[in-house]
Amino acid sequence: MTHFLDLDTTPADDLRSIITQARAMKDARAGQPKGAPDAVQPLAGRMIALIFEKPSTRTRISFDVGARQMGGQTMVLSGKDMQLGHGESIADTARVLSRYCDLIMLRTFEEATLLEMAEHATVPVINGLTDASHPCQIMADIVTYEEHRGSVADRKFVWAGDGNNVCASWLHAAGQFGFDMTFTGPETLDPNPRAVAFARGKGRRVEITRDPLKAAAGADAIVTDTWVSMHDPESARERRHNQLRPYQVNEAMMAAGKPDALFMHCLPAHRNEEATTAVMDGPQSVIFDESENRLHAQKAILRYCLGV
Ligand code: CP
Repeated sequence: MTHFLDLDTTPADDLRSIITQARAMKDARAGQPKGAPDAVQPLAGRMIALIFEKPSTRTRISFDVGARQMGGQTMVLSGKDMQLGHGESIADTARVLSRYCDLIMLRTFEEATLLEMAEHATVPVINGLTDASHPCQIMADIVTYEEHRGSVADRKFVWAGDGNNVCASWLHAAGQFGFDMTFTGPETLDPNPRAVAFARGKGRRVEITRDPLKAAAGADAIVTDTWVSMHDPESARERRHNQLRPYQVNEAMMAAGKPDALFMHCLPAHRNEEATTAVMDGPQSVIFDESENRLHAQKAILRYCLGV
């Protein structure tokens, strides 16, 4: 049984195979209506549970559409409407769902919840985001970068802002796909040291600087995310904004990168907070390609987990 729990725990060769398949599947359905079935139907007869304990637009819809394109059926479930949200254990929920479904995708808070689900499920489990990581997003982002600029190998990616769960998955990807990362943000919001150590342990350069323009120098891509994540308390908002304003991705920061540097953001965005509208809608931005590629990357992840 093959789970997809994180980029640092999935073999690098498997991650590369998933990217290759995602791009091939995307190419194969170019020009098709969104609801048209794929020519091959590897998920025929499969039931996919999509469980959300946090809000979602992209993850929810891209998994649902992708599974259907491949012939699968889906159930989109809200954690709070299940007994899971009313005291039933994760382990028992995993055992029960495994009797009905062929695969479980879970978006939750604590990483421990995801790991407990995977431990007790007898079907594959996919990480649809936890407070610690967001591996499906970064698989889509690798597809996106490579379709615009070629291999990510030995490139310099710059993360500006909060060293959050998405940043941690970028650091895992740096180690697995072989590129370098520079983080620029306030010290109190530095990235997870274990994710930094993972990338460095794979021989990648990971720099941390408080100077956003110095960070951006020579960047192949500049990446950011919201200043307040879903798991952050609302009371942190004002302090976060004050801390992170110097790290806004604006025209000056983009100009400090390479002329062909891409601007990337997983969305949803708060326009003119973490990035200006001019950058988000500018010629270097690939943010909506990232959203589209959630669909293609996750279809390949579903096939990988199900072995089909
Ligand atoms: N990027 C991302 O995961 O988007 P959603 O929260 O809308 O799923």
